[in-house]
Amino acid sequence: MANASDMGFAPPVTVALTGASGAQYGLRLIDCLVASGHEVWVMISKAAHLVISTETDDSLPAQPQRLTEALVERSGARAGQIRCFAREDWMAPVASGSGAPSSMVICPCSTGTLSAVATGASNNLIERAADVVLKERRQLIVVPRETPFSAIHLEHMLALTRMGAVVLPAAPGFYHRPESIDDMIDFIVARILNQLGIEHTLMPRWGDPS
Ligand SMILES: Cc1cc2nc3c(=O)[nH]c(=O)nc-3n(C[C@H](O)[C@H](O)[C@H](O)COP(=O)(O)O)c2cc1C
Repeated sequence: MANASDMGFAPPVTVALTGASGAQYGLRLIDCLVASGHEVWVMISKAAHLVISTETDDSLPAQPQRLTEALVERSGARAGQIRCFAREDWMAPVASGSGAPSSMVICPCSTGTLSAVATGASNNLIERAADVVLKERRQLIVVPRETPFSAIHLEHMLALTRMGAVVLPAAPGFYHRPESIDDMIDFIVARILNQLGIEHTLMPRWGDPS
């Protein structure tokens, strides 16, 4: 099978959507990664599907091939640019250090998945993929959304930070004077792309002449 560079894509980034509010952040991130030419490997938890249908006009199919087709259609991805994996597809490349991409973003990240990743539960492919990224000392970005945070949530975020993960809460700022929900979504997605080192034009960096 041809790999990403054979097909002309920039290196793959793993994106997992879990069941916290803020599905729009994850969907917009996928669209931006596709637009930047990266291959995107996607996992969507069962709870995330429920959140997506609650918060957006989209209702995405769970079956990986159909999910891939739906994401390709909404993002305008090229053939082969998006790959989706099922909850227990232990044969997927993200399940092993030898196949996993160097970066993974869990966006949004539920407190349940936050806990599972911080404690190494690996009970589904999202948790396993994050565990692999941590053990391989690669880049893990988690975007939790909950309020208020309990001591349990805070301890798990501290544990992940100490393991080298970046905890990037879905907490948009207001100093760029957002005029729409899309502007607030882009605030967070821009921060994620900055962490990934991917160029974007979603919003200027602080101090850039406008
Ligand atoms: C509409 C909706 C909104 C939710 N919002 C949040 C949230 O903001 N943060 C959170 O941690 N969990 C939230 N939950 C609960 C999680 O979906 C639930 O804990 C689930 O077990 C998480 O599973 P997952 O981590 O496998 O996706 C929400 C659930 C629903 C249905």
